Amino acid sequence: MLVVMKAVIPAAGWGVRFLPLTKEQPKEMLPVIDKPVIQYVVEEAVKAGIQDIIIITGRHKRTIEDHFDRSFELEALLQNGNRQEYLQKIKDICNLANLHFIRQKEQKGLGDAVYHARYHVGDEPFAVMLGDTIHVSDVPVVKQLMDVHAATGKSVIAAERVPGPKVKDYGVLDARKIGDRLYDIDDLVEKPKPEDAPSDLCIAGTYVLTPGIFECIERTAPGYNGEVQLTDALRLLKEKEGMLAWEFEGRRYDIGDIPGWLNAQFELGLRHPIYGPKMREHIRTLYQNEKPI
Ligand code: G1P
Repeated sequence: MLVVMKAVIPAAGWGVRFLPLTKEQPKEMLPVIDKPVIQYVVEEAVKAGIQDIIIITGRHKRTIEDHFDRSFELEALLQNGNRQEYLQKIKDICNLANLHFIRQKEQKGLGDAVYHARYHVGDEPFAVMLGDTIHVSDVPVVKQLMDVHAATGKSVIAAERVPGPKVKDYGVLDARKIGDRLYDIDDLVEKPKPEDAPSDLCIAGTYVLTPGIFECIERTAPGYNGEVQLTDALRLLKEKEGMLAWEFEGRRYDIGDIPGWLNAQFELGLRHPIYGPKMREHIRTLYQNEKPI
């Protein structure tokens, strides 16, 4: 069986929930502590052993490419100023992985964005990792999926329980539990009304897919919001090949959502060796005031 060697990171969406900040600035470049979100996504792929990464961008996303490119001027500045620590950090970014960029000229949906990677991916299983989703986990979430794929040969989707009305923002699964954390998918529906949702088990934005998905995307008509939805193509793939879901171990943050971004700052800030203790001290001060916030 072929091993997953490539990841596709769709990063072409507008980031509407973050406007006006995302008017010119890609949401994938939002900072979490000292790195943009997309760097966390690339680092998760690399930690899982993936070195070949295709980022799907769009017209207003040029800073993503620049971030992973060398900056000779800045390197010289840091070198001359004897700021080795920062110099190393910015050099490391360029050597993280083999990155390829493909532009989606029109925003026609997540399915269409993934379809842009078809020639690069070829006839191999591959990972899809949303460019605005980061995880805190012991084992990278994408690696957890790769292990399920290696054991079963099937496409597998990271899943997460989402409370009540919030299911309307997700792809939702109708699935039967067949093992610890493992489910066999019967159906998938993109952003249903809460009363129509088949369950509270939602698609969490990380996938390992067989290359059969590309032909399924070709057969997928625009769906929710007039866009070619990856979820609708997954439905077709499931019919052909079957499909699994994995309730992943760890925590997920959707950075395209302001509360998600704030919470990620909070957890990663508290975990940070330098900033964590300072944050704790500040939180204590806030709560010790006569009128706590
Ligand atoms: C996308 C997918 C959806 C999934 C979600 C996870 O939606 O279409 O199925 O549940 O990511 O974040 P988006 O958030 O891009 O609207």
